[in-house]
Order: sequence, then structure tokens, then C-alpha cells
Amino acid sequence: MSHPIVDIHTHVYPQSYMDMLRSRKTVPYVHDPASGAASRLIILSSDDSESIPLDQRGRPVDSSYSDINVKLAFMRRHGITTSVVSLANPWLDFVEPNEAQIWAEKINDDLEATCARVNDAADPEGVRALHEKQTLFAFGALPLSAPSADIVAKEIARLKTLPHLRGVIMGTSGLGKGLDDPGLDPIWAALQDTDSLLFLHPHYGLPDEAFGGPEATDRYGHVLPLALGFPLETTIAVTRMLLAGVFDRFPRLKILLAHSGGTLPFLAGRIESCIAHERKFTANGGDTQGPRTDHPFFPPLDGKEEEPWLSVTTNYKAINTTLADDTDSIKDVLGGNAVRILDLK
Ligand code: URA
Ligand code: ZN
Repeated sequence: MSHPIVDIHTHVYPQSYMDMLRSRKTVPYVHDPASGAASRLIILSSDDSESIPLDQRGRPVDSSYSDINVKLAFMRRHGITTSVVSLANPWLDFVEPNEAQIWAEKINDDLEATCARVNDAADPEGVRALHEKQTLFAFGALPLSAPSADIVAKEIARLKTLPHLRGVIMGTSGLGKGLDDPGLDPIWAALQDTDSLLFLHPHYGLPDEAFGGPEATDRYGHVLPLALGFPLETTIAVTRMLLAGVFDRFPRLKILLAHSGGTLPFLAGRIESCIAHERKFTANGGDTQGPRTDHPFFPPLDGKEEEPWLSVTTNYKAINTTLADDTDSIKDVLGGNAVRILDLK
């Protein structure tokens, strides 16, 4: 049997969710142009600018967003054997508090039924090779706008009883105050205790002004919010969790970060460094383990400024251990590249 190829980042909007979006007139909503042209999905705040004719706002939305058979065809086309499908953004973040639980149960039961139907589909002629069988699993949606975090925790526990659910998908707003909110603790506890994977996914990006406002949106469309706003949003959310000690309080929390971890892989060292040098953070009892960089902003906090700075020795150590015996590369990273690129001779 050939090896499985699994897509863990693949979304669906069940029909009931699409119908709900069609009944709305504010973001998020679906608009059907009177001309009969393709429906429009208006979900990002930048999509809904008054300067854009309604029929052109957002993006066209077709059956690939909601029809599971189109998903299965997409999987076959790309050799994907297994997909873990999830509701797409903005999930149930905007749902009225008293309807959140009902919607979460409806969406999650629908996902379970779809997975069961596909996975148990008969192969009457028995011609389908094992590796051709397509398998679906799902990440559940959470009723985050519900009146209490316990309702969310209850849904996390219920998801464990649905055979095809493999965790949850969630955005970065949490209960409305971001992911460093202590009010989320019952949810982190429920995820940890049930060993449920949390797929953390962006939606809100950065304020439109960060990208040049409506004019830039007109010119560049979704490039800036999706390419930069989304990964930065994820990075900020996880960093706030780190600063708030969530990973210390819930060390067995399992998180899948969308889009290769946002910009976290690149910024991890910088984040550690800023933490280690932030007096306010230390004064507030924050945990400051980690390397340091960036003269003169990051002096040693123990006053030993005449001794080698961690900001420098950390970099030497990283370069020497990463490149080991490759002395030419070490020389390049330590200075040769800068001399060449900046013409420093
Ligand atoms: N990918 C997503 O998952 N959501 C968007 O809104 C855009 C790209
Ligand atoms: Zn996505």
C-alpha cells in the first residue's frame, strides 16, 4: 500500500452555515448578485468597504466551499488520501451568545455525519484498492461566544464522543479578549484533559491602516492581509499565550499553528530576547528565560555590562553549533556576507 497523504488544513462551510451567512447583511455574509453572477463571500473587514460595489466585494464563492463531493474530487486530483476538514473562518465567533451552543452542535454533528458517510461509503464492486479509499476526519468548531467558557469546555468533551472528530479549530480572539485571557483557562484545561489538538487559525489580521487602508486594498486585494496579516496575527496570538504563561499552566496543550507557525519560526529568537529584556514584564513576575540580542537596547539586567553580553554570545553559539565544521560558512555568516552585500571592503 502506498503511504497516506494527509491534508490537515482544508476547510468546508456546511450548507446550514452558508444559509446563515446568506441571511446576514454585515460581515460575515454571503451576497447573491441580482445579475446571477457568482455569489460573493464577504468575511474580512477590508472586504466590506463602501467604495467597492456590493457585487464585487469579497471573493466569489462556489460549491467547492460547501460540497463535500467537490472536496473529494480535489483530494483525488492531488493524491490526497485523508483530509481533516474544518469549518473556515470566522467560524462561530460572531454568533449571538444564546445561539452559539446550538450552532456548534449543529456544525459538529454535520461534520461527523459527513465523515461517517464518506468513510463508510460502500464499494459494491470491490474494485477500489485500499490506497484509493478516501478518508475524512474533522476538527470541530467551538461556541466561543456562548455565555460561559464552561459551555465551550462541554462541547470539547462532547466532541470526544464523535468518532471522526480529531480536535478543534479556533481563531485568535478567544472569548473576545485574545488568547492571553485567563477566562480561557477552562478551555485550555478541557483541551489538555481530553488530549484534543487545537488548530489555531487566523482571521482578523492587522488593522487595515497597517497595509495602507482602502486604497491599498483596492490596488492589492487580499495580498497584504493574507500574506502578512494572517501570519502576524497567529504569531501575536501565540506570543500572548506565551507571555501569559499558558504553556506553563497547560504543558500538555497540543497546538497546530496554521501557515507554518505564522512568522514564529523566524521571530522566536527575537521574541525571547525582547522578553528577557523587558523590565515591565520582569517586574510583573514574567518568566524571562532565553537569549538576548540588539545593542544597546538589551543590556544584561544583572548590571554586568562590562562582561560579554548574552546578546552576542548567543549568536556566536548559534552560528558555531549550526554550522559546525563548515568554517567557510561560519566566516560568511560572521562577516563575509555583510562585506559582500554591503560592499564594506
Ligand atoms: N485562507 C483561509 O483559511 N481563510 C481565508 O479567509 C483566506 C485564506
Ligand atoms: Zn485556512
